[in-house]
Amino acid sequence: PKEVFILAIESSCDDTAAAVLRGEKVLSNVVARQSIHEEYGGVVPELASRAHQQNIVPVIDVALKKANITKEQLSAIAFTQGPGLMGSLLVGTSFAKSLSMALRIPLIAVNHMHAHILAHFIDEEGYDKPTFPFLALTISGGHTQIVKVNDFFDMEIIGETTDDAVGEAFDKTAKILGLPYPGGPLIDQFAKEGNPKKYPFTKPKVEGLDFSFSGLKTQILYFVQKNVAANPNFIEENKADICASVQHTIIEILMEKIKLAVAETGIRQIAIGGGVSANSGIRQTLKETENKYGWKTFIPKFEYTTDNAAMIGIVGYHKFLHDQFTNAGVVSKARIEF
Ligand code: KG4
Ligand code: ZN
Repeated sequence: PKEVFILAIESSCDDTAAAVLRGEKVLSNVVARQSIHEEYGGVVPELASRAHQQNIVPVIDVALKKANITKEQLSAIAFTQGPGLMGSLLVGTSFAKSLSMALRIPLIAVNHMHAHILAHFIDEEGYDKPTFPFLALTISGGHTQIVKVNDFFDMEIIGETTDDAVGEAFDKTAKILGLPYPGGPLIDQFAKEGNPKKYPFTKPKVEGLDFSFSGLKTQILYFVQKNVAANPNFIEENKADICASVQHTIIEILMEKIKLAVAETGIRQIAIGGGVSANSGIRQTLKETENKYGWKTFIPKFEYTTDNAAMIGIVGYHKFLHDQFTNAGVVSKARIEF
């Protein structure tokens, strides 16, 4: 059989990414991060799309060079159709369309959320692949979902956030503490030095497998405001304990729902994905469930957890095998049917 080379493009938010895969193996995985948003405390859509337009050609060039592949060797082009920021998605979609027309090769539209889940099927030494069915916990700056994954393209959302995503809870907490965007990784770092039980925050009461994080954010805001009024140095003096306590609360919320999902479905394989799955506390807590409850957990390689194009490429590869191509009339979708 002929070797399959997929060029994948991801531009749904603030990272411009390109990857080249040979079958299920990643030959290159390049990400241009946009630091421009840091000073604004969040992603500015207008600036993101401009940066994508600037970065996309060099990022794809580097991905091809690193993979040691020429454009002419490519079998197909996969791109993120959505969900995401419209202006950002348009850049990747338009570029993918044009390149597929120029090279006369098929075009494959990929759902970003499917990609976070199917990233586990990248062939990577030392990383097991889950077997169907499994539960996926997708936690990012835009999403918080528990998904029952029956097959590559047969998935159902069984729980999701009713307001903020878990990444937003991290990032907004960080903002309250005066940390730069995105604050999730910084909270993770400070939490390592702190006492997770120092400040007991209350968890939201949400039915079933759904989540809510906006109440926690407000609770933290009032808590910090009250304490800073009494002691202007409160944040500086207690940063590690605050971060550890917030992170601990978030992990407890997530674990409670996963336990419920396991109880309801009888599925004991849990795969995490999305930027927040980089969190060391979440990773450690999930690993501990293997001995504690007999679950099998799947934690992807770090570079495949935050937004990247390799995960778009692995979905592209499986769609390629099933002739799931799209035509040049395809459009970006800010929101997309799961
Ligand atoms: O998947 P991703 O790169 O982009 C989206 O699709 O949203 O996720 C980004 C999110 C941000 O909210 C960021 O703060 C969070 O992932 N994040 C973390 C960590 N690393 C990234 N949150 C907590 N702990 C981390 N180590
Ligand atoms: Zn993402």
